[in-house]
Amino acid sequence: MRNSEGLNLNDVMNEIEKWVELTAAYQREALQHQQLQVQTKAYDTDFVTDVDLKSEEILIKCIHETYPEHSILTEERGMLDRQSDYLWVIDPIDGTTNFIHGFPMSSISIALQVKGVTQAGMVYSPWLAMKFYATKGKGAYLNGKRITVSQTSELRISLLATGFPGAGSREHINLVYFSHMISKVSGIRRTGSAALDLCFVAASYFDGYWEFDLNDWDICAGALIAEEAGGRLLQTQVGQHSLTICCNGQMLETLQRSLLESQEI
Ligand code: IPD
Ligand code: CA
Ligand code: CA
Repeated sequence: MRNSEGLNLNDVMNEIEKWVELTAAYQREALQHQQLQVQTKAYDTDFVTDVDLKSEEILIKCIHETYPEHSILTEERGMLDRQSDYLWVIDPIDGTTNFIHGFPMSSISIALQVKGVTQAGMVYSPWLAMKFYATKGKGAYLNGKRITVSQTSELRISLLATGFPGAGSREHINLVYFSHMISKVSGIRRTGSAALDLCFVAASYFDGYWEFDLNDWDICAGALIAEEAGGRLLQTQVGQHSLTICCNGQMLETLQRSLLESQEI
């Protein structure tokens, strides 16, 4: 299976799987046997641990060994630019706050873009033993089984997910949206891992998901997985904030309309 650039995406996915297994094994071991070293970044509840940094290092080393000429974008180290058409986008732990608390809802997210188009992605939860993955045009999978988004077209009976950036980072624009949406649906969940939220839409556990101000590394792999599962992803701007919406095609218009009504409240 080759993409336009002659890369074999089956081989790429096999590589990704090995790298992610290695990183997951390290994370399990670290959480069990190691005293976590926690530091703050932009504000006092924006955390990074030594396990985030070491996980990222493992993934970068794996990529460099196999594809030394590729560029890499990671959450903790930024852009390692090799002026390449190939860009790996990595979040070593999506859900760091959960990870620090031992709440089993974090994931490793890794995707490969070729000339700006995501061709392959994997989101793996070491705690739930859930491995979500997709290659462009070939569908989405969870642990080897094909997954598809839900068919729910009615917002009223839908289960949605959202997320909130940590306190202190930004104004909580999403609180207004959350309080508007809560009376319109059957429930709203907040897992604390945007990558998993997108995969949970892909697997039809959630009917839809929205969140403000996400970064490429949060959503690159999850977006491909959701789209390959038949989902739709919409990214729009609300004032200063970017808004990401993901759901099945039947619900997109209604969900988008309902979310945007929140601004009028
Ligand atoms: C965070 C998670 C969370 C989302 C935040 C992200 P991190 O990523 O995806 O679900 O609500 O906006 O920053 O910091 O744990 O990698
Ligand atoms: Ca993240
Ligand atoms: Ca992270």
